[in-house]
Amino acid sequence: MSNYSKIIEEDCSHIIKRVGSSLDYLKNKSLLITGANGFLCSYFVDVINQWNKSLEPSNRCFVHAMDNFSSSKKTRLKHLINENEIKFYNTDVSKSVNINDVDYIIHGASIASPSIYRIYPLETLDANVSGTRNVLKLAVLKKVTNVVIMSSSEVYGDPDNNNIPTNEQFNGNVSCEGPRACYDESKRIAETLAYVYKTKYKLAVNTIRPFNVFGPGQNLDDKRLVPDCIKSVLNNSDIEIFSDGKSTRSFCYVSDAVSAILLLLLKQPEEFLAFNVGNDEIEITMKELADLVLKVGKRVIKSNTNKVIFKKSFDVHYNTDSPKRRSPDLSRIKSTITWNPIVSLEKGIERTIKSYL
Ligand SMILES: NC(=O)c1ccc[n+]([C@@H]2O[C@H](COP(=O)([O-])OP(=O)(O)OC[C@H]3O[C@@H](n4cnc5c(N)ncnc54)[C@H](O)[C@@H]3O)[C@@H](O)[C@H]2O)c1
Repeated sequence: MSNYSKIIEEDCSHIIKRVGSSLDYLKNKSLLITGANGFLCSYFVDVINQWNKSLEPSNRCFVHAMDNFSSSKKTRLKHLINENEIKFYNTDVSKSVNINDVDYIIHGASIASPSIYRIYPLETLDANVSGTRNVLKLAVLKKVTNVVIMSSSEVYGDPDNNNIPTNEQFNGNVSCEGPRACYDESKRIAETLAYVYKTKYKLAVNTIRPFNVFGPGQNLDDKRLVPDCIKSVLNNSDIEIFSDGKSTRSFCYVSDAVSAILLLLLKQPEEFLAFNVGNDEIEITMKELADLVLKVGKRVIKSNTNKVIFKKSFDVHYNTDSPKRRSPDLSRIKSTITWNPIVSLEKGIERTIKSYL
C-alpha cells in the first residue's frame, strides 16, 4: 500500500471513531456527494466505504458520487471503482441533479482554488448558484433527511480586526466585483438559497464555512497555499511567496474538518443554518506557514536544502481582495456537537508531506 493510501486510510479510521454511533443514521440509507472527486469530498466517500466494510451488506450506506472533474484528477477515487455500494456520475451539477433514491446530501461541487476560479468565473458561479438550487430542489422532491452545503469562510470577505476571530453573525465585508467575487458572492447566494429552502420548505439544511482545510489528496497544482508550499518541498526547490507574507490564516487538517461536517450532517442542528469549521488553535502569517512547511519538509526529506523566498506573481490578481486575516470563532459548532480540532498544524503538514512521498 502506498504512503498516500495508508495515511488516508488511517485518517478515515480516526474519522469513523470520532463520528462514532452517529454513523448508524446512515445504515441502509443513501448519500449523494457532489464534488465527490475533490479533495474534501473524496474523504467522505473513502470514510463511508471503509465504514461499510464493517457492516452486513444489507446495512451499508449507498453512495452516489457525483463530479464533473473540472478541477480534480480522475485518479483520486479509482480504487473504489468496483465497489457495489458506490455509483459514480460524471455530471455537471449546474445543469441538473437527478437521483432516484437519496436520504442525505453533501453538496461540495465548486471550483475552490482562487487561481482556477479566476480563469472560470462563470462556471464557478454556475456550480454555486444553479448547482445549489438543483441540489436543494432534489432534496425537497425526495424528502431528504438532511443536506449540507459546502459554503466558505470567504463569505466573510476581508473582516476588520474587531471581527477576528470571525463568528457566524458577522455579515461580511465582501466585494461584488473583482476577481474573487465569482466565488465569494456565489457562496453567499448558495447560503441564501439554503436559507430560503429551510424557511419556505422546512428543509433540514446546514451550510458549512470551512477555514483553509488542507491535507492529503489536495491538488498540488491548484495554487492553494499549503499544497503550493508542499509541492516546492517535494520538488526540492525554494518556497516562493507571492505577497508580503504578512496576511494570516488558520489552517485545519482534513480529518478534523470531515469529522465535524459528518457530525453536523447526522445531527441536523435546526437552530442555526451556518457553521464555521476550522482550527482556532493558531493564526499564522503566510511567511510563518512557509517556514513551517520547510522545517517539516527538511525533517521528512533529509536532502532538502531550500529556503523561503519572496517573488512577484505573473498572475496580476494573485493578491487582489485577498483577506488580510482569517481565523474562525468556533463557539457555535463546539456548543452544538461534541467536537474540537485535534490535529496540530505541524502534525497535519507532516502527514500531508508523507502522503505525497
Ligand atoms: N478546502 C478548503 O479549505 C475549502 C475552504 C472553503 C470552502 N471549501 C468548499 O468545500 C468544497 C470542496 O472543496 P475542495 O477543497 O475539496 O475543492 P476541490 O477543487 O478539491 O473539489 C471540488 C470538486 O468539485 C468538482 N466540481 C466543480 N464544479 C463542478 C460542477 N459544476 N459539477 C460537478 N462537480 C464540480 C471539481 O471537479 C472538484 O472535484 C467546495 O465547495 C469548496 O468551495 C473548501
